[in-house]
Amino acid sequence: MKRITCIALLALLPLGAFAQAPEKAAACAACHGEGGAKPILPEYPVLAGQYANYLEHSLRGYRDGERKNAIMAAQAGALSDADIRELSRYFAAQPGPLYTPSVHAASGPSAE
Ligand code: HEC
Repeated sequence: MKRITCIALLALLPLGAFAQAPEKAAACAACHGEGGAKPILPEYPVLAGQYANYLEHSLRGYRDGERKNAIMAAQAGALSDADIRELSRYFAAQPGPLYTPSVHAASGPSAE
């Protein structure tokens, strides 16, 4: 009976609660906060909710020396392309304080 209760409780846990965070994301949280959503200093950017392709571009830039920042060069230096893709998708999918308004052509400046 006890065993059946345990199995039933496990089934109630959301799978995502375990599966999501890549192992290497733990190091990032030291500065960017849990899930990249709460940086420890105002000059450290929020990662949560940014576009995955932007995060990926930034990380490749730090790693390959196109974007210069001593702290992030050290962080990104050992990341493989697969790590970068995984981390970027993970942080892009996290809830955070950022908001990107949708841009409607009608409300922008007219080209005429
Ligand atoms: C020691 C603190 C620290 C750690 C650890 C750290 N970062 Fe950063 N990160 C920074 C700082 C500071 C910046 C801003 C650098 C700049 O001005 O270009 C930054 C910038 C970034 C950016 C660019 C964001 C943007 O809006 O342009 C990305 C992406 C990023 N970090 C990802 C990561 C990932 C992924 C990890 C873990 C592998 C990580 N960081 C670990 C401090 C850190």
